[in-house]
Amino acid sequence: MNRKPIIIANWKMNLSSSGLERFFSHFTIDDKDLDKVQTIFCPSFTLLSQVCSFISDRPLALGAQNVFWEERGAYTGEVSAQQLSDVGCQYVIVGHSERRRLFNEDDEMVNKKIQLVLKHKMIPVVCLGENFREKESGQTRKVIEQKLSVCLKDLRSFELKKIIISYEPIWAISTNPNNPDKLADSPEEAQVIHKFIRKTVGNMFDEHTARAFTVIYGGSVNPENIEGFAKMNDIDGVLVGGASREADKFQKIVGAYLN
Ligand code: PGA
Repeated sequence: MNRKPIIIANWKMNLSSSGLERFFSHFTIDDKDLDKVQTIFCPSFTLLSQVCSFISDRPLALGAQNVFWEERGAYTGEVSAQQLSDVGCQYVIVGHSERRRLFNEDDEMVNKKIQLVLKHKMIPVVCLGENFREKESGQTRKVIEQKLSVCLKDLRSFELKKIIISYEPIWAISTNPNNPDKLADSPEEAQVIHKFIRKTVGNMFDEHTARAFTVIYGGSVNPENIEGFAKMNDIDGVLVGGASREADKFQKIVGAYLN
């Protein structure tokens, strides 16, 4: 099955309005080439409109880093799916490990967010992965199975085909305090887990869904290691944090999918 590569820039709480012009003037990949992949920029909420104006009319998409699971109401500090859609978002990251660790988000909350994002016709990018302790004790598959069963609860297979799962081993994220050398998972090991995710989804839904839906990798991806991930069969793209903040690095990463 031919799945279009997805490359996501997760800028986290970085970049400011003044840096955008510089970033996009250095992001010079031809639109004709960009058509071959789906490149998505996820800035902070306050920069969404501005980024939207930089990318409009180009084969680039806008995504948010988070959303709340209720439609509206007294939820000070939260942002709704409708508000994200209104500002031009097509994608929303849910369940990033930083949100899980710092804001106690759990799989039940992620499930509610996924459902709302889909209802608003946007695509959820569902992050999940094991921490270092779980990896070391051989729990990776169990943890992933458990997370998938709760995060994807009550979804139908036609909805699942639209979802992106981002496998992000928490220990491999560059800002993880336990990863001072910013070491990524090896592409070979990540491929094995991606295949496992596809198989698990196949068991939960059906074979066709498992082949159609998108699973990408996140965790210390950079221009030096991207080639390894780009050539793996079950790794459909990458979610990039640190290396997405500099246009030249990020376009090298996108470029790896254009050969
Ligand atoms: P990183 O971030 O590329 O800086 O490791 C990835 C992520 O947090 O999703």
